[in-house]
Amino acid sequence: MIELRPAVISDVPALIGLWEVAAENDSRPADSQAKVEALIARDPDACTIAVTPEGRVVGSLISGWDGWRAHLYRLAVHPDIRRRGLARRLLAHAEDRLVALGASRVDAMVLEDNELGQSLWKSLGYEPQEDWRRWVRPVG
Ligand SMILES: CC(C)(COP(=O)(O)OP(=O)(O)OC[C@H]1O[C@@H](n2cnc3c(N)ncnc32)[C@H](O)[C@@H]1OP(=O)(O)O)[C@@H](O)C(=O)NCCC(=O)NCCS
Repeated sequence: MIELRPAVISDVPALIGLWEVAAENDSRPADSQAKVEALIARDPDACTIAVTPEGRVVGSLISGWDGWRAHLYRLAVHPDIRRRGLARRLLAHAEDRLVALGASRVDAMVLEDNELGQSLWKSLGYEPQEDWRRWVRPVG
């Protein structure tokens, strides 16, 4: 049985390794050990990972709650075990957490050309919000 649990610092190298092979990798800042450690320090339950009985990290989902809005990031499942319901489990787990924290809506950013991602979100009840665009400016 694949276990879902919060990522801890010692999981970070494996998690970054998972994202290199499994995540939607275009159009986002580079990952680093320090950035993921900072996320875990800020909110130890935000980054859920899926771990096999052998200890392999095969899935991830970050659920962010800032006290106002809830956002999902880095939904990724290793190519070896796709289409077995793991993304569905990760998402249900994250939604439960976010509702318990006070969220009434959650969202995710999905690249326009990520047809696989769009199939997943659509099948799990999410819809694109056509009248909004994300406006960004690099800082720091
Ligand atoms: C998208 C992704 C997370 C799905 O993970 P998964 O564990 O295979 O998904 P699930 O098995 O839980 O599938 C849930 C539903 O999503 C849809 N879905 C998943 N993969 C699909 C595919 N290849 N084609 C069409 N629909 C698909 C199906 O409706 C599926 O339900 P079903 O199997 O009962 O038909 C995985 O393919 C992945 O990591 N892709 C690369 C990263 C990515 O694009 N992430 C999304 C970022 S926005």
